[in-house]
Amino acid sequence: MSENFLPFALPEIGDEEINEVVDSLRSGWITTGPKAKRFEEDFSRFLGDENLHSIAVNSATSGLHLALEALGVGPDDEVIIPSYTFTATAEVVRYLGATPVFVDVEASTFNIDPKAFESAITARTKVVIPVHFAGLACNMTEILRIAYNHNIKVVEDAAHALPCKHNGEMIGTLKSDVTVFSFYANKTMTTAEGGMLVTANDDIAKRAKIMRLHGISRDAFDRYTSNKPSWSYEIVAPGCKYNMPDICAAIGIHQLKKLPSFLQKRELLAENYNEALNALPVILPPQPEAGSTHSWHLYPIRLKPDCGVSRDQFIERMAQLGVGCSVHFIPLHLQPYWRDTFNLEERDFPVSQALFEGEVSLPLYTKMTLEDQRKVIEAVNKVLNNG
Ligand SMILES: Cc1ncc(COP(=O)(O)O)c(C=O)c1O
Repeated sequence: MSENFLPFALPEIGDEEINEVVDSLRSGWITTGPKAKRFEEDFSRFLGDENLHSIAVNSATSGLHLALEALGVGPDDEVIIPSYTFTATAEVVRYLGATPVFVDVEASTFNIDPKAFESAITARTKVVIPVHFAGLACNMTEILRIAYNHNIKVVEDAAHALPCKHNGEMIGTLKSDVTVFSFYANKTMTTAEGGMLVTANDDIAKRAKIMRLHGISRDAFDRYTSNKPSWSYEIVAPGCKYNMPDICAAIGIHQLKKLPSFLQKRELLAENYNEALNALPVILPPQPEAGSTHSWHLYPIRLKPDCGVSRDQFIERMAQLGVGCSVHFIPLHLQPYWRDTFNLEERDFPVSQALFEGEVSLPLYTKMTLEDQRKVIEAVNKVLNNG
């Protein structure tokens, strides 16, 4: 890769994060401890409700697994998810032996279609997992209404959606049962690997905390800081090893502080793209409605069929011009495991299929300069024969 190549995504890590990690390393407390606790408290405060339980884990995938486990999902249950998502949303359903039921999305938002969700409900449906694609909130008013009427639990996959508002309310504070965020390296904030499970429900929080650390009834920090001897604990379930180390939380504490300025930069880059690409043969990403905000984790454009190049050619030519692009997502109905195990057919997901065929995600991240962005815009114009 040439020195001038603009990668599709990069994290922005400053001295604050580096110094905090070094502090953890020097302190001797490198795994889950005081910084993970502080990060959790800061996170609830950031969402605007200190009474929420924020439970730091080592990935959003772990958080989704813990959420379904705490809701009692098991082999007899069905969990409704959009086909247009990353495999993590579906794989956690299989961890528990339950059946994922894939539904189509709305063309206008890339998000789960509430009507498709409602049509897929059976007596076995236990949970729905709406995914806020790219950082634009799903129609949560409808999803929560339908779920409530059918006694279905709601776990929001908010891997892309930090911070994001739906009708003026922060994702993470809605009336869902659980919301899960991701801090993977390319997300709107990072801890290298990590995630946060957020819930207002005390029982879910208690179960998730136990299950994130081996099913131990006391967490590691408590074991080493309380007056009871550290060897004294009980195993109450065959738990997981999903805790977030302090080294990661140290990064998260400072990334979270920077999130408002990160968002401003992302919004600026998105606005610039909206203006610059408006006249080209592409469909711009869906924009948030009044009262809602977009976290702009991704900037997904769609090439119009008459734009002169195929999606794959577009990505190849962008790379030749020094710009990394990506595709979000190859829908799960096309992935061999999901397709073959659950007999998924393209014709049952016409919207996801059409979105996928023309989708390209352009680079959008805080480390990009406006000059970098001009390079992307120029390249798009060249590839589409406009410049
Ligand atoms: C929609 C969605 N859900 C879940 C995940 C999993 O996140 P993590 O890598 O933190 O496990 C991702 C990761 O990109 C994602 O895009």
